[in-house]
Amino acid sequence: MTAAKRIAQSMTLPCGAVLPNRIGKSATQEGLATPLGHASELNVTLYRRWSEGGAGLLISGDVMVDYSHRERPGNIVIDDNGGIDALRRWAKAGQVAGNQLWMQINQPGRQTPIDVQAHPMAPSANMAGLPPEGFGMLRAMTEAEILDLIERFGRVAATAREAGFTGVQLHAAHGFMASSFLSPLCNTRDDAWGGSLENRARFMIESLRAMRRAVGNDFALSVKMNAADFHKGGFDMEQSMAVIAMLNAESLDLLEISGGNYDAPAMIGAMGSGSPLARKKAERTLRREAYFMEYARRARPIATMPLMITGGSARWMRWRRLWMRMQLTSSALPGHSAHPPIFRQSCSMAKRRKSR
Ligand SMILES: Cc1cc2nc3c(=O)[nH]c(=O)nc-3n(C[C@H](O)[C@H](O)[C@H](O)COP(=O)(O)O)c2cc1C
Repeated sequence: MTAAKRIAQSMTLPCGAVLPNRIGKSATQEGLATPLGHASELNVTLYRRWSEGGAGLLISGDVMVDYSHRERPGNIVIDDNGGIDALRRWAKAGQVAGNQLWMQINQPGRQTPIDVQAHPMAPSANMAGLPPEGFGMLRAMTEAEILDLIERFGRVAATAREAGFTGVQLHAAHGFMASSFLSPLCNTRDDAWGGSLENRARFMIESLRAMRRAVGNDFALSVKMNAADFHKGGFDMEQSMAVIAMLNAESLDLLEISGGNYDAPAMIGAMGSGSPLARKKAERTLRREAYFMEYARRARPIATMPLMITGGSARWMRWRRLWMRMQLTSSALPGHSAHPPIFRQSCSMAKRRKSR
C-alpha cells in the first residue's frame, strides 16, 4: 500500500472514536477570543475553513481554565465566564466535514506573561530558564491550589463535551504548567508533587484522570508531552520514555509528541542550553524535518496508545519517506503495528503547494 493510501485510511481510537484519516492539525493558539474569553465569529470561521481542509483531526488552540492565568490576551477561557453558546457554534463549525475536533486545555503556569499576571503560579518559585523579560516573580503553589487546578481541568473537559467537541487534550508540553511539573529544574518541591519522576508526573496523571472521569470512557482523551525540554539537567528523553510507560496504565487515546519551551523552543526548530555535545546532537536532530521522529521510533515499542508527532513536517517527499520508515519500524515490532503515527500536516500542505 502506498504511503498516501495509508494516510487516507481511517483509524479507530481506544475510546471507539474514529479518525477519518491520519492527518492531524496540532494545537495552534488563535488569539481571536473576545475580551471576556469567549469564542468569536473569527474562531468559528477559521475552524470551518480548517474542517473543510480535510484533516481527520483538528486540535484547538489552548483553552484556559483560569481567566487570571492566561497564556495571552485573546485566549478562549472557561472559568464560570459564560460563553457556552459561542463554544457550541465553534465546535459545530470545526466539524462540518466530519472530522474529530478536540479542545486543548492548558494552564500556562510559569510562562504566564506579566501583562496577564504579576505573580504566576508554578510548581516552585524558581525562575530557572525563564526569559527574564515579560515574566513576573513566580509563586509556588499550595497543595490546595494544585488540587483546585486538577479539578478545573476536569470541569473544562466536561464543558468541552457539553459544547459538542469530540475529544480533549491536556497540554503537558512546551514548559507550561503540567510540563513544568515534569521538569526537575522547574519543579524542586519536596512533597508528593516533586522529587522523584513518579512524583513529578503525578500532576499530569491526576489531571488526565480528572478529565477522564469528567468525559466518560467513550470520549477521546489525549496528552501533548515533550520528548525533552532540551535543557541540561532538565526533563530528558530517558525520563520521557519512563513517563510513557506510566501513561500506559491510563486510558489515553493519543499521545502527541513535541518538545522544548519558551527558552528552548525546540517545537519550532530552535535550541536552548545543554552541554556542547548534547546541544550539537540536538541541533542535528532539529535540522532534520519531523524533529521528533527519532523519539517516536524509540517510543513506539514502549507506548501502547496511538502516537502523533508534530513539528517540522514541511516537505511532502521527505514526510512521505519518514512515514514509510515509521511503518517499517512499527510493523517490525510484534504487538506494536496497530498504531502508526499521525502527523501534523496543515502547514506542510501549504508549503507543498508553494513549491510546486
Ligand atoms: C502560532 C502558533 C501557535 C501555537 N499554539 C499552540 C498551542 O496553543 N498549543 C500547543 O500545544 N502548541 C502550539 N503551538 C505549537 C504547535 O502545535 C506545533 O507543536 C509547532 O508549531 C511545531 O509544528 P510545525 O512545525 O508543524 O509548525 C503553536 C505554534 C504556533 C506557530
